[in-house]
Amino acid sequence: MHIASVGVSKFCFLFALAFCGLLVLLIPAFQPTARQVDLPHPRPHVRPGPAGNRSGDVATGQKGSSEGQKISSRNGYQGPEKRSNYHTIPERGAVHEGKGGGIAGSRFQDPLELKDIFIAVKTTKKYHKSRLALLFQTWISKAKEQTYIFTDGEDKELRHRTGANIINTNCSAAHTRQALCCKMSVEYDKFIESQKRWFCHVDDDNYVILPSLLRLLSSYHHSQDIYLGRPSLDHPIEAAERVKSDGSVSVKFWFATGGAGFCISRGLALKMSPWASLGNFISTAEKIRLPDDCTIGYIIEALLEVTLSQTHVFHSHLENLQKLPTDTILDQVTLSYGGFQNRRNVVSVAGGFSLTDDPSRFKTVHCLLYPDTDWCPRKN
Ligand SMILES: *[C@@H]1O[C@H](CO)[C@@H](O)[C@H](O)[C@H]1NC(C)=O
Ligand SMILES: *[C@@H]1O[C@H](CO)[C@@H](O)[C@H](O)[C@H]1NC(C)=O
Repeated sequence: MHIASVGVSKFCFLFALAFCGLLVLLIPAFQPTARQVDLPHPRPHVRPGPAGNRSGDVATGQKGSSEGQKISSRNGYQGPEKRSNYHTIPERGAVHEGKGGGIAGSRFQDPLELKDIFIAVKTTKKYHKSRLALLFQTWISKAKEQTYIFTDGEDKELRHRTGANIINTNCSAAHTRQALCCKMSVEYDKFIESQKRWFCHVDDDNYVILPSLLRLLSSYHHSQDIYLGRPSLDHPIEAAERVKSDGSVSVKFWFATGGAGFCISRGLALKMSPWASLGNFISTAEKIRLPDDCTIGYIIEALLEVTLSQTHVFHSHLENLQKLPTDTILDQVTLSYGGFQNRRNVVSVAGGFSLTDDPSRFKTVHCLLYPDTDWCPRKN
């Protein structure tokens, strides 16, 4: 009798379990979306992935920021507790080990190369000499074919001297929202035209550590929806929704700060086309009345509902760059220097050049990456 009742309850329990299992399988909401399946590892997401509750994402944004993304608009980098974020880039040489299944397999046959990345550098005529010369001497010299300079004035001398891809956007040289959005609009169109796999935007005060960039992007596939960058705020921005509705409701979204650089996969860039191509970017930005980098975030997060993959390997001059641990500098993707208050806001890296000879530290970083460069100090 006792044994029989145990048997019955055991049977009921197993039956209930099987029933629940069946339910889970049948309800489509519980099934992983194709997008989740496609995502390779590692995924440098700080927040839940695209399948998460988006309004919930926003609501927990503050919590996320206190845990993983201690950033403030004034002082982006906040010390070594964020070191875990450096692991968002796979170890050197570990990129093609095929962790992600099918996609990794195809990646192995068709690995990402530097020539697949479109790097847009935004500048203005005023900085052709003071800022661009340093970039041409350093990182652009290693990526000349795929780097495009977007400026606002003709400079035949610069074009002849460097042989670079220099694009006169014919946009205004003013540092206004309209002028910046005008340049971003041209950047977008040129990228689409280029047929390259990734769009990366940087400013003229950024050093791009090309091996790190290639490693970071190699951990994704360009046909996925990928938007990578550093949020400039520790909370999502809120704007009146004037594209999909009349502006009476507001939307919250994250955006990657343009001053630190950001990257967008071709797959995602193509989906942005209705709001970004052939001048549409300017009208989208006008509707929401926000700067260029916010508008990118708006199109991707608010309109396309793709989540920003937050990463802390991109750096702008708004951060305290001296706090970046020296032994991690070559693993970052972008660096910067200076800032409005502090000309000495540079990364702490020692090498062949003094602070007087290399105030931005870009030459020193370059010589650590490429010691055979002819102007780098020879080691005795
Ligand atoms: C998502 O989260 C919001 C706010 O936290 C909640 O009101 C809403 O019901 C959630 N939606 C789903 C589908 O869980
Ligand atoms: C800027 O204007 C020049 C001269 O009219 C033209 O050749 C060039 O294509 C324009 N640039 C862009 C990006 O439209």
